[in-house]
Amino acid sequence: MLEIKNLSAKVVDSNINILNKLSLNIKEGEVHAIMGPNGTGKSTLSKVIMGHYSYEVTSGDILLDKESIKSLDTSERAKKGLFLCMQDPTVIEGVSNSEFIRTALNERSLEKVNLYTFIKEIEKSMEEVSLDNSMLHRSLNSGFSGGEKKKNEILQLKCLKPKYIILDEIDSGLDVDSLKVVCKNINNYLKDNKEASVLIITHYPRILEYIKPDYVHILSEGTIKDTGDMSLAKKIEKDGYGGYNE
Ligand SMILES: Nc1ncnc2c1ncn2[C@@H]1O[C@H](COP(=O)(O)OP(=O)(O)OP(=O)(O)O)[C@@H](O)[C@H]1O
Ligand SMILES: [Mg+2]
Repeated sequence: MLEIKNLSAKVVDSNINILNKLSLNIKEGEVHAIMGPNGTGKSTLSKVIMGHYSYEVTSGDILLDKESIKSLDTSERAKKGLFLCMQDPTVIEGVSNSEFIRTALNERSLEKVNLYTFIKEIEKSMEEVSLDNSMLHRSLNSGFSGGEKKKNEILQLKCLKPKYIILDEIDSGLDVDSLKVVCKNINNYLKDNKEASVLIITHYPRILEYIKPDYVHILSEGTIKDTGDMSLAKKIEKDGYGGYNE
């Protein structure tokens, strides 16, 4: 289980507080969605869970399977099965996409990944997310279109096989067909990995029509203001966030 307990966080070396006593429990196999107005802390929450160096936890805790991960660095958190599909995936010039994924895989496993097996598997995964094989040899995210970046995040997910998945606006920038492809891949992943759980950060209920959430939360002013089911997402689409900003 991923437990976020009364978490407050600020930007390092500043007085900018972003998360404010936020609590959230995500059990194995559950799908949670977070919606909320722009600039209220959704991406910050995902980065704080991953241990991003720009943010400092000022109170509260983050527990993974009952163990605090607050003092672990990002790579240690990733090794424990946490994975973030970023809202704005980072460009790394000079590091090829395949090199990047293979290095991450080697870091996670005790034995070096067999190159032949790796290529076979990654090419199959690329076909499943409908990305061209040539993208394996390009620098990570360099010149990738918005949609290609998002699909490439899903490719990494399929290769690294995490247990706790955070999708930060995976649906933004995807055309209607690509959204279906991405959601199909995520649903198949969840079917094959029953213990895996997902936190979907989104502005639109559409993705939640494909990946059915067990809970929908509203994040505003750095904390969870409301929790419900799919009907809450539909209500927000209709009425907006008016009542949550006081
Ligand atoms: N490193 C930083 N330095 C200064 N301000 C920051 C930093 N990181 C985040 N913020 C501010 O914190 C607030 C929350 O940002 P965050 O990216 O978490 O919003 P969000 O809820 O993901 O919004 P959106 O829906 O637009 O993606 C914003 O006002 C943002 O400008
Ligand atoms: Mg964001």
